[in-house]
Amino acid sequence: MENVLKEGLLAIEACQNLGDLQNVRNEYLSKKGLVTQLMGKMKDLPAEDKPAYGAQVNQIKQSLEAAFKLKEEALQEAAFDVQLQKGKIDLSLPSAMPLVGTLHPLTIVQTEIEQFFMGMGYLVKEGPEVELDYYNFERANIPQDHPARDMQDTFYINAEWLLRTHTTAIQTRTLEAYKGEIPVKVICPGKVFRKDDDDATHSHQFVQIEGLVVGDKISLADLKGTLELLARHLFGEARVIRFRPSYFQFTEPSVEVDVSCHICNGKGCPTCKQSGWIEILGAGMVHPNVLRMAGFDPEKVSGFAFGLGVERVALLKYGIDDIRHLYTNDLRFLNNFRRFE
Ligand code: PHE
Repeated sequence: MENVLKEGLLAIEACQNLGDLQNVRNEYLSKKGLVTQLMGKMKDLPAEDKPAYGAQVNQIKQSLEAAFKLKEEALQEAAFDVQLQKGKIDLSLPSAMPLVGTLHPLTIVQTEIEQFFMGMGYLVKEGPEVELDYYNFERANIPQDHPARDMQDTFYINAEWLLRTHTTAIQTRTLEAYKGEIPVKVICPGKVFRKDDDDATHSHQFVQIEGLVVGDKISLADLKGTLELLARHLFGEARVIRFRPSYFQFTEPSVEVDVSCHICNGKGCPTCKQSGWIEILGAGMVHPNVLRMAGFDPEKVSGFAFGLGVERVALLKYGIDDIRHLYTNDLRFLNNFRRFE
């Protein structure tokens, strides 16, 4: 009897896990277990010995049960500790940087220009990228078969429809929508398309922002003042602009606008090809034909228009040497613009 208790206690102690413990419990306390067998032997004893024997076996049974319970708790606790260790979290470790996208440089520049003009009371107008020849050319005073159409190589869809070659198409639509009402004061941003061979400075698709103001006594001086403010906003307070004569079908007179170089302050450097000036946009006074076709009386109202390339501004502003960087979506390039947002 003493051996059963001693060996039982040792066996319990030796258990490594709850499975072992269950085996030992079966060995001792099940219906055919050692303790049950001891109890079975009672019937062979003389009647006077039975109570003492029974009490002793019960004592052993209780001791073993108590030992099982203690061991079970200890093993459960140990198992829990293992679980905790496995799922351990070191709260002092630095966390991973969440990956946050950046605005694309073209979006940054476009938004900046839009906000600049909205601050001066301009409305932002958009239009279709697949456009009628009518709004892209005819309403811009470029009739069928006019040689000026060769200035812009056009993606035609059919005789009537094309991919707009300039956002002047939004201007002609806007003028029509105003039905002769003044003032018109809008900017027209959007993608435009031309059959150009792509290289470091050309792309068959790019973004333009054109501006249009029509009203009472709008003059070339208003245009110059507006564009000078824009140039300073984009390239710094020290900028000045100059007009050079140019030609567009839809403006008369037409000008090419240069900004004093923001890199060398006009002294001459590789960016401005030693000239001190950088060409940034085309502009002019809205042609009387354009006004007339849209229902405005060119004898009573006048207007100016300008058009700039957003890519060109971005290249100049950020010192980017190849327009294709703007389209290839290389994160090493794009992540540089976080600080400009
Ligand atoms: N539409 C012209 C272009 O695409 C730009 C421009 C707009 C010029 C408005 C003058 C006035 O080149």
